[in-house]
Amino acid sequence: MEARGDPRGEPWIPLCIPDTGDEEAAAVAEVLRSGRLSDGPANREFEELFARYTGVRYAVSLNSCASALQLAMMAAGIRGEVVLPSFTFTATANAIVAAGATPVFADIERSTCCLSPDTVGAAVGPRTEAVVVVHYAGQMADMDPIREICSRKGLLLIEDSAQTLGGTYKGLHPGSFGTGCFSFYPTKNATTGEGGMLATNDAAMADKVRTMASHGIPRRVEGSAGSSVYAYADGKRPPWRREAVAAGFNFRMSSILAAVGIVQLRKLDAMNCARRRIADFYSASLPRDIFELPVEAPGRTHAFQMYTIKVKGISRDAFVSQMLSRNIGASVHYDPPVHRQPYYQDAIRSGRAIVSGPLDMTDQVAKSIVSLPIYPSMTQEQAYRVVRVAIECAKAAASPRYQRF
Ligand SMILES: Cc1ncc(COP(=O)(O)O)c(C=O)c1O
Repeated sequence: MEARGDPRGEPWIPLCIPDTGDEEAAAVAEVLRSGRLSDGPANREFEELFARYTGVRYAVSLNSCASALQLAMMAAGIRGEVVLPSFTFTATANAIVAAGATPVFADIERSTCCLSPDTVGAAVGPRTEAVVVVHYAGQMADMDPIREICSRKGLLLIEDSAQTLGGTYKGLHPGSFGTGCFSFYPTKNATTGEGGMLATNDAAMADKVRTMASHGIPRRVEGSAGSSVYAYADGKRPPWRREAVAAGFNFRMSSILAAVGIVQLRKLDAMNCARRRIADFYSASLPRDIFELPVEAPGRTHAFQMYTIKVKGISRDAFVSQMLSRNIGASVHYDPPVHRQPYYQDAIRSGRAIVSGPLDMTDQVAKSIVSLPIYPSMTQEQAYRVVRVAIECAKAAASPRYQRF
């Protein structure tokens, strides 16, 4: 691996490395030889495995998590206000805009960096139609009170679970509380390069999303177990007759990627276990007087898609710059938070997006958050070096020359 400016020439430790190899390559080759490159048996198998893994009844493979979020709202006809945390990746808010609805930004809890149930309650008004929680960095939000608000007010609950495949809340996976939307981007707990999955216990939601993801033309399962596929035929019409019942999209996942997903899902628990070993080492080794470390809330299992810390009393920007100059791929998730990004600043000014109240915790956390490298193949030596360099960089960042940051 290339060196990136560390005078001592220590190798670059990236933020993440996807765990893909020969098994995934063999699965791709098999699909390529099969001639079933889209909507084939690999998609059905991936969906079935995913539904079984998460304990959710229906899973629909898609081209991204952003598409899953957008279709979940469009399938439910959401056009009003949608409450979400501002402390998230922009895609969460963009999906609300793409569905034709209005984002309403609420605040987060400091310990988990997930949507705070109290601020959700305050953000809900007469025009609210849905709440999108974001399960941040591998840990689920506090779902009981949020679900309670949603059922009391009749709101659709969507779980942006891009970062939390394998994380649980009271033993339940994302998608068990509302509609779960997952990502298979290379930095995630499982990857297909690009890709997404929508998981729900609501048969009508699954059906509508499947239809909208395929040009608005309904499809049904055809074939026998193990080789079943989705086909346009509905048994009543000739199979060549395709009729759109909605203005849909092409948000499908190719079978080539579904084949990768099947292998990844089989390896998921082992990969998450390896992430946890690194996380446990970081938590045991990083000094708590300089860093606030991630907390696994009671009753929750953290999937450590990211290991994020908050720096105390030093410039975060100086710290991250120092880490990068020492060949450690530290990063920031997220600064600026979505409500401070140019498009949303403009949208807020013109009433196309709303800030529900003070977002003090979001602003505070955004200024101090840092993501440290974590990935399944990370070695103990690499983790040790991250800790050692982090301590040195925190000292350097505390020096007066970094006051300008
Ligand atoms: C919280 C969150 N939501 C949504 C997305 C979008 O996922 P995708 O790239 O699969 O559309 C991401 C991806 O980084 C994410 O982290």
